[in-house]
Amino acid sequence: MLQVSQLRKVFCNGNGMAKVALDNVDLHVEVGDFITIIGSNGAGKSTLLNAIAGVYGVDQGQIRIDGVDVTNQPEHRRAHLIGRVFQDPMIGTAASMSIEENLAIAVKRPERLGMAKGVTGRERARFRELLALLDLGLEDRLHEPVGLLSGGQRQALTLLMATISTPKLLLLDEHTAALDPKTAEQIGELTRKIVLGRRLTALMVTHNLQAALEFGNRTLMMDQGQIVLDLRNPRRAKMTVDDLLQQFMSVRGERFLDDRALLA
Ligand SMILES: Nc1ncnc2c1ncn2[C@@H]1O[C@H](COP(=O)(O)OP(=O)(O)OP(=O)(O)O)[C@@H](O)[C@H]1O
Ligand SMILES: [Mg+2]
Repeated sequence: MLQVSQLRKVFCNGNGMAKVALDNVDLHVEVGDFITIIGSNGAGKSTLLNAIAGVYGVDQGQIRIDGVDVTNQPEHRRAHLIGRVFQDPMIGTAASMSIEENLAIAVKRPERLGMAKGVTGRERARFRELLALLDLGLEDRLHEPVGLLSGGQRQALTLLMATISTPKLLLLDEHTAALDPKTAEQIGELTRKIVLGRRLTALMVTHNLQAALEFGNRTLMMDQGQIVLDLRNPRRAKMTVDDLLQQFMSVRGERFLDDRALLA
């Protein structure tokens, strides 16, 4: 479904120093895979997701989605294949527009029709139904501007928008990290419900090792631009958070001490 081959991405920082963010990454994702990705700060997790989404070009390698080589396609040409949710609940929705206007744009986005021109009664009924699944009472607030929603409500709406047109691939980059623990758990559950219920293929970056093992069917650990661990069942099913910490320690060596706070 997604095939990433020998992917390499090098950034130049302000001092003109080269930083290898992705170092010959190979990844083969099957339809319906729900993959969690862990790794310390700077490991290359977001770069991998950005490269797949086409935010920037890569220096080497190939990305194929559903058999199509998208490596040299600009971001907007592959946007209809991909749904994304970021850490910041403010990204992904338009604050001054209403809930239904935001949803209407998300529905029309794959067809590249530009701005939505009003919402039909039928669409509104569908939006109500979908919003009711979130269990946040948003189905009764269709005309309210999104800017009035809480961070958690907004992230739930973003998730709905990212998946409303059934993307081939859903990319979640620490999408619960900015929320309080209870809300993060709710959004986590919602994510599970949507990904499994709609049989989506998803990559989810998280710093929560418990969530990394509980969600999905496969876990990748990244370090210094490489995938250093690829856990699948039955091995994955037996893994505990402590086992994962041990793996981290053996991969990171002394650098692990810097990571501890992050992985708490
Ligand atoms: N646009 C950019 N310009 C320059 N360097 C970048 C850019 N994006 C990422 N990098 C560098 O590439 C490396 C990988 O960064 P990346 O954001 O992928 O890490 P990450 O695993 O997502 O980390 P975190 O857990 O902190 O989000 C880092 O060294 C980072 O500084
Ligand atoms: Mg990141």
